[in-house]
Amino acid sequence: MTLVQSMHFDQINALKKERNALILAHNYQVPEVQDIADFIGDSLALSREAAKTDADIIVFCGVHFMAETASILCPEKTVLIPDLEAGCSLASTINSSELKKWKEEHPSAVVVSYVNTSAEVKALSDYCCTSSNAVKVVNSIPRETEILFLPDMFLGSYVGQVTGRKNLYVWPGECHVHAGITAADINNIFQKYNTAEFMIHPECGCTSSTLYGLASGDITRKAHILSTEGMMQHARKSENNQFVVATETGIMYRMKKENPDKLFIPVKENAVCKYMKQITIEKVVDSLVHKQYEVKVPKQIADKARVPIERMLMIS
Ligand code: 13P
Ligand code: SF4
Repeated sequence: MTLVQSMHFDQINALKKERNALILAHNYQVPEVQDIADFIGDSLALSREAAKTDADIIVFCGVHFMAETASILCPEKTVLIPDLEAGCSLASTINSSELKKWKEEHPSAVVVSYVNTSAEVKALSDYCCTSSNAVKVVNSIPRETEILFLPDMFLGSYVGQVTGRKNLYVWPGECHVHAGITAADINNIFQKYNTAEFMIHPECGCTSSTLYGLASGDITRKAHILSTEGMMQHARKSENNQFVVATETGIMYRMKKENPDKLFIPVKENAVCKYMKQITIEKVVDSLVHKQYEVKVPKQIADKARVPIERMLMIS
């Protein structure tokens, strides 16, 4: 740790005590932010931590929809995001008017929204899901019921294939970071590392072709489609010591730190989410000092949006 980092570290620890604050960080955050977090995890784990904390302030080091989820689950707490520019290209692919119109076209359908959505979209949804529980959530809905799945088309197509549901309609949204990871990128890496296991996030552009390749026998190595936290758990428990990783590269830091004897190879070095990287250690300090920037979901939206999130938390 550098001198400046350790000064920030001491300052943040003192402020945390003074304010009774909790720092949550997503797996894609920059290393210094991960190092000062009380808890690091995927969207589901972070929602769970937010729901159970007795801290007065939650500093959410992640993107805006994640802070909104925390505000929905803990309306009495102050939820701060260190930079309001930390958005999400996937969450922006659908808004509440577009969802209302889609629902009108399928009046009897149930809406399953990935957590990467705005609070307004969640308020119009029946269930939420994350990458680690999407299959479980969809399987909990009677098979004859139509489902509108949004907004990620790769996750949606993965869930459709795994559950075998023909009545699952998928919104054509994508995350620019994961959609950019293609089958060609993977084949290049596979040629170099022929004994490595393969971990892939279901938002990736190559997820559908990977599933097809696994089913047809074209991909013969061990492949695992996992959320970011699922990847962390798998890296820890697998006996293999080489892993090709298809997701945002921020996760590499924690993977290497927790598994120093294993080798992790990113499929794409430039798979970087600029929104996640908006959060810096200096902004975390400012956030605690000035109690900025509060993310507060209005009560009438929060009360509706809490229903699909709580349904998800009960199922998973
Ligand atoms: P996880 O829930 O797997 O952490 O994914 C969140 C996300 O934004 C992926 O891009
Ligand atoms: Fe959104 Fe993609 Fe960034 Fe995840 S990686 S926060 S889905 S833009």
